[in-house]
Amino acid sequence: MERSRGLVRPALVDAVGRLHPWTGEMAAYAMGWADTAGRPDPAGSEGKGVRQALAVLGAEAVGADSADAVPGAVAVELVHTFSLLHDDIMDADALRRQRPAVWKAYGTGPAVLAGDALLAQAVAILAEARGPHTGAAVRCLCGTLNTLVSGQAQDLRFEDRPWYGPGAVGPEQYRAMAEQKTGALLGCALALGAVLGGAPDPAATALERAGRHLGLAFQAVDDVLGIWGDPAVTGKPVHADLRRGKKTYPVLTALAGGGGAARELAALLASPRGLDDETAARAAALVEEAGGRAATRDEARRHLDAARRILHETPLEPSPVRQLDALFTHLLDRTW
Ligand code: IPE
Ligand code: MG
Ligand code: MG
Repeated sequence: MERSRGLVRPALVDAVGRLHPWTGEMAAYAMGWADTAGRPDPAGSEGKGVRQALAVLGAEAVGADSADAVPGAVAVELVHTFSLLHDDIMDADALRRQRPAVWKAYGTGPAVLAGDALLAQAVAILAEARGPHTGAAVRCLCGTLNTLVSGQAQDLRFEDRPWYGPGAVGPEQYRAMAEQKTGALLGCALALGAVLGGAPDPAATALERAGRHLGLAFQAVDDVLGIWGDPAVTGKPVHADLRRGKKTYPVLTALAGGGGAARELAALLASPRGLDDETAARAAALVEEAGGRAATRDEARRHLDAARRILHETPLEPSPVRQLDALFTHLLDRTW
């Protein structure tokens, strides 16, 4: 991931530098490069850089030059940052990567605008890429944006659905939502560098599918970290998903399991008073007791295996595929 970060950073810095100074300042804050006064921020974190690494490795996997992937890598990182800016507003999460979320630091209106600026710049950077495959790459990114919005729509609508009984969110509905809100962009990231590098359709499609499975695994791990992660490491508030009624995989599978822990959990979640610190901690313990944590770990593993299988069944360069394998393992074991 360090290698791709070094390759992509100059173009990413340039893309942010060309924004309006105010939106650029917020973008630099969101990227972890600056504090709210525009000074280098020792507390800032750039994030994992997964999407840019996927774009670079995807290009290399089809034998293309990693430089071909750079506009794609910049575009997916900008889209990712945009989606987090707006997501924190939608989820009312005040903390991101250990610092106030952009909407908390600058206000909701400015944060919406900064997200818009990043989104517009992402599409512009990709559309300006030189080479014969730019059109295909832009189509891939724009299709992904539509899918991501649809996934976010489902995620938000699920908040008002009951936890159990008729009208509850089933595992297939959860998967469709997660594949769209998270998987689509990871699939796009893995395919985009390859598309820019002129990959044949079947290879690009295989990379896209593998990336979507990776996204499902990634979201499952994210759901686990949202309940049992150490907030000092994840940089996000603990139990926020539980309190907001987010229909995450651990909770859904725990409730579906039946048994005493599931029944107590259902009663807690149904409380009209909502969850305070203590009941949220109890709910988390019950989700684990009812098997939700283990089931989610299995879900993540299944999707990583599926992603690996696709890569190994596709004629690709062995060295980048090995690096993708290592990246997948790292993502399953991540703590933030
Ligand atoms: C984020 O989903 C997906 C997008 C931003 C499109 P989540 O809301 O589950 O992610 P975190 O936990 O806030 O990072
Ligand atoms: Mg969120
Ligand atoms: Mg969200």
